[in-house]
Amino acid sequence: MAEVNLENVEKRFGETWAVAGIDLTVHDQEFVILVGPSGCGKTTTLRMIAGLEDVSAGDIRIGGRSVVNLPPRDRDIAMVFQSYALYPHMDVYRNMAFSLQLRRVPKKEIDRRVNEVAEILGLTPQLKRKPRQLSGGQRQRVAVGAALCRQSGVLLFDEPLSNLDAKLRVHMRTELKRLHQKVRSTMVYVTHDQVEAMTMGDRIVIMNGGKIMQVATPLEAYDKPKNRFVAGFIGTPPMNFFSGEWVDSKVQLGGGVKLPYPRSSPNGTKSVVFGIRPEHIYVRPSGNKGETAVPSVIEVVEPLGHDVVATASCGAGVFQLAAEIHDGLKPQDKLDLQFDMARAYLFDRDTECVL
Ligand SMILES: Nc1ncnc2c1ncn2[C@@H]1O[C@H](COP(=O)(O)OP(=O)(O)O)[C@@H](O)[C@H]1O
Ligand SMILES: [Mg+2]
Repeated sequence: MAEVNLENVEKRFGETWAVAGIDLTVHDQEFVILVGPSGCGKTTTLRMIAGLEDVSAGDIRIGGRSVVNLPPRDRDIAMVFQSYALYPHMDVYRNMAFSLQLRRVPKKEIDRRVNEVAEILGLTPQLKRKPRQLSGGQRQRVAVGAALCRQSGVLLFDEPLSNLDAKLRVHMRTELKRLHQKVRSTMVYVTHDQVEAMTMGDRIVIMNGGKIMQVATPLEAYDKPKNRFVAGFIGTPPMNFFSGEWVDSKVQLGGGVKLPYPRSSPNGTKSVVFGIRPEHIYVRPSGNKGETAVPSVIEVVEPLGHDVVATASCGAGVFQLAAEIHDGLKPQDKLDLQFDMARAYLFDRDTECVL
């Protein structure tokens, strides 16, 4: 069992609160992604789990045992870093075997593990090559392989794909997911890329400013964001936001745009932020109940192939919508865009929590 528990974990660097009190349980064999903007505390959290950084307060347990006073080598973890360093003068086999040799694992056992991991990662034909004779993706796999050979209960990854080009990154995403299905270690994976987070994790932990904003499956984070931060961070292109007032079952935005919001506001009127995703604004009525026509002007059209992202404006401001290339949108087109109110969100303007 390699469950990881964080209980009220804090990390201060002088005046900076890198991690401001987080609670998190990563279940045995789960693949959890820590995601958030640069500087939100992802790496610090991972390094505290690994034992490369002390906690300022709180407790970390791995497999039920408190590890805060244990050195990294006694924590049942292995870590793959962003800038993974392979030893240039050693071949793939020795790069993967090296940490086991340091731990005086018997030669036969090393041989068994390296061959097994090489097989899982498709590196068997490359075992005798030096790093410079490998592609970027193969080098990355060797770094993962070296961590896998340790056979630890918990694997920690800190943005391991960020130095790869876009195409290879997409490919390695699939590979790591498949790898998790094979080895079933507990995995904690850090990235700032919300697409990577959405596609890879069983659950994602969305962080901001040293705090956890939400822990959810990718689908929950998309459908049921708890607050404006999560709503704006998850999804591409991002959710559109407009400030407004919620009065008498209607949301009033700028420029006289009024949208029905068929729940009465708590005390008659409330300052809110209205949120709607680009994919829930339609060029023509879809027949869904509860669509509202908003007179708009198309400003910019960006074709992506089958899909286009258009920027448009209405009385309330500028926003983006996702359409199809066959919709034939052009700049200066004036049309009534359909806002799917069943898929829209209201946030309290002060607390930013979803209403
Ligand atoms: N060794 C350190 N000394 C001082 N401040 C640090 C140190 N490491 C991280 N920080 C600060 O802690 C915050 C979180 O950093 P980090 O965990 O690296 O974020 P992320 O990995 O999400 O980009 C940032 O404000 C960063 O500047
Ligand atoms: Mg980082």
